[in-house]
Amino acid sequence: MEKTRFNNLIKEKLGNINLIVASNREPVSHEYAGKKIKTVNSVGGLTIALEPIMKNLNGTWIAYGGGNADKTVSGEKGKIKLPEGEESYTLKRIFLSKKDINDYYYGYANSVLWPLCHIVYMKPIFNSAQFLTYDDVNKKFAGSIIEEIEESKNENGLDVKNIIWLQDYHLARCAKYIKEYDENIKISIFWHIPWPNPEIFSICSEKHELLEGLLANDLIGFQIIYHCQNFLKTCEWELEAQVNWSDYSVTYNGHKTWVKPFPISVDADYLHHFALSEETEKIIDEIKNNDEIIEPPYEYLAISVDRLDYTKGIPEKFRAIDKMLKEHHELIGKFVFVQFGVPSRIYIDAYKKLNEEISDIMGDINWKYGTEEWRPIIGYFKQLELGRYLAYHRLCDIMIVSPLHDGMNLVAKEYIMSNTDYKGILILSKFAGASKELYDSILVNPYNTECFAKKIYEALIMDKEEKERRTAKMQNIIMENDIYDWAYNFLTALYLI
Ligand code: F6P
Repeated sequence: MEKTRFNNLIKEKLGNINLIVASNREPVSHEYAGKKIKTVNSVGGLTIALEPIMKNLNGTWIAYGGGNADKTVSGEKGKIKLPEGEESYTLKRIFLSKKDINDYYYGYANSVLWPLCHIVYMKPIFNSAQFLTYDDVNKKFAGSIIEEIEESKNENGLDVKNIIWLQDYHLARCAKYIKEYDENIKISIFWHIPWPNPEIFSICSEKHELLEGLLANDLIGFQIIYHCQNFLKTCEWELEAQVNWSDYSVTYNGHKTWVKPFPISVDADYLHHFALSEETEKIIDEIKNNDEIIEPPYEYLAISVDRLDYTKGIPEKFRAIDKMLKEHHELIGKFVFVQFGVPSRIYIDAYKKLNEEISDIMGDINWKYGTEEWRPIIGYFKQLELGRYLAYHRLCDIMIVSPLHDGMNLVAKEYIMSNTDYKGILILSKFAGASKELYDSILVNPYNTECFAKKIYEALIMDKEEKERRTAKMQNIIMENDIYDWAYNFLTALYLI
């Protein structure tokens, strides 16, 4: 959907709205660089997807202010107008203590809920004290949202509708505290990660508290229908709540919550045009003439772009590359794979171990096949500018997106929209939500090394017409449901409740 059409439709259907979004991660952080302060864009699907919506709807975005200069640059109540120069929406920062971050973010959110919801055989580490802090931080977010609602009443009167849109697994308890303040406020949450089946969820010590918190929302959005079904079954199992399977709703303690799929997407048009822009062309030339990242010579280039997370299947992918090189010696000296990665959640042991494992396997494979001037795998573990990623998208022969489990995975969609010359093809895990829409990619099971290796080879020898046919089809699918369609569908569904 074109963005002016999005603005007009929202205005026409919803009237004057005051959109309040809350997420743990802020869109940008401010960091000291010597005496100067620099703005750093956040990594990850959630913030990248939501920013264009916030810019268009001029909303307020409440998030944890994690940058070391965040307080310095924020005004009263932690507020700052963004993006710099454009100032179309307000970021309202919440400042958390070290204990809050340890127990709520690294602890309950990322050592319990993250492994619990992603079925990758990583055990959650339950800790009831951390849950109390998680709950407490949820209360803080609720307090900040309520403060915002009060302010909007004073500034805009009563004809502005407040729309509260919570984001992700960090805020499962927040709606409950807002409903306690005023049960008539409409509240929703979009759950960006998978929801597991009821057997898996049943091991969670705080399962009732989490479900009760979530069911205080009027609308819960998941990425795909399968996660909605898992959630509804979980409500039946754990709460004996009344589930209506004909309209996907659940009634608990007299309150009804709708549960619907809204597959998140990308700013398709923007990415497509940026990929074709002069700026990207210039970077492509630079890379072709003198690449600072990929120094070994190659005929075939495969790439991946991931947060360094154990759900992303990075070691499994390296094993498949190893297997392919073992079977196809003719590729030695010709095939190079670049893993672009951004370090994540580094104070959690499982992530530290993953980083070690990645560098060990990479080292082993390069040692096994490498020659004096060539090695098959390169790891580049720093964030790049968007233009540079798009340039690599256009230059590569294969993009591999192979998580073990993923709510959606927006890298897959970004790649499809920026594969403007149809040079490459997407290899995609069956266990990423994106595979439900991008079924014309080469689908793989990342756990099956042998088949995965064969699929990489199949991608390498696929002819240009076939790549073009498949990619063009997937581009159309994404254009039909881009980030504006996603937000429009969600917000109108909430409004109609
Ligand atoms: O959906 C999970 C998610 O919130 C994504 O938006 C994003 O890719 C990632 O997690 C970011 O994680 P963090 O904020 O912990 O760096």
